[in-house]
Amino acid sequence: MVATHTNLNIPALEAEYSQKSPREILKFALESFDNIAISFSGAEDVVLIDMASKLTKNFRVFTLDTGRLHSETYQFLDQVRKHYGIKLEVMFPDAAEVQALVEEKGLFSFYADGHKECCGVRKVKPLRRKLNTLDAWITGQRKDQSPGTRNNIPVIEHDGAFSIQDHQLIKFNPLANWSSTQVWEYIRALEVPYNKLHERGFISIGCEPCTRAVLPNQHEREGRWWWEEATQKECGLHVGNLQK
Ligand code: ADX
Ligand code: SF4
Repeated sequence: MVATHTNLNIPALEAEYSQKSPREILKFALESFDNIAISFSGAEDVVLIDMASKLTKNFRVFTLDTGRLHSETYQFLDQVRKHYGIKLEVMFPDAAEVQALVEEKGLFSFYADGHKECCGVRKVKPLRRKLNTLDAWITGQRKDQSPGTRNNIPVIEHDGAFSIQDHQLIKFNPLANWSSTQVWEYIRALEVPYNKLHERGFISIGCEPCTRAVLPNQHEREGRWWWEEATQKECGLHVGNLQK
């Protein structure tokens, strides 16, 4: 039976699957939903694509091209597309909205006004357009990525932030309980391709103007929107985390 939000007992599944490996969680997600896709940022969440490629030939991957990514990230996205022989579904922001924002406030408004407005146009709205066509999505979020906002993320949840009345959405976070060390052990052991920015001190990777390398022992989240408070460091893709 194809799963829907109505025939899944999310709390029971969360209790069961939070004890399981990312591969098992991903397998359950891909087997339960036909209309599901991996949300790929072009960073170390590539492990989800590697795991999925070993489970099935039929999995979908989408990415949000904000227009502000590093050239290394664009190169990596294309490398991953070719390496795994996948079609990468690329979502772009609405041209008129980007034009209006840039004409009114310039190209770097986020340093003065905060990142919410630009992220809203370049990331969140395109994500919403994609999620409105899906029944479930899979992210590479982990608890250890952001102590301020991601400490409690479950491996499976009802996505209250992106569901609409007649279209309830399920969100899987198979890597939630893995550490950065486990992710990188996987990448090295299985020779998974990775973004070259990781060789230059970048850990968490987002848009070029809003991401910087971190120093030894600095937390990875300090390299994102470093001019803002740690508790605000969600761009809106995972806005539900701010209420948890
Ligand atoms: S963000 O919200 O701060 O930008 P982060 O970079 O930690 O997110 O990535 C967490 C997960 O969000 C990724 O593993 C991926 O599933 C999703 N994600 C983040 N950025 C993108 C993007 N540009 N395109 C698609 N998915 C993304
Ligand atoms: Fe805009 Fe920065 Fe958000 Fe990218 S991360 S969409 S450049 S504010």
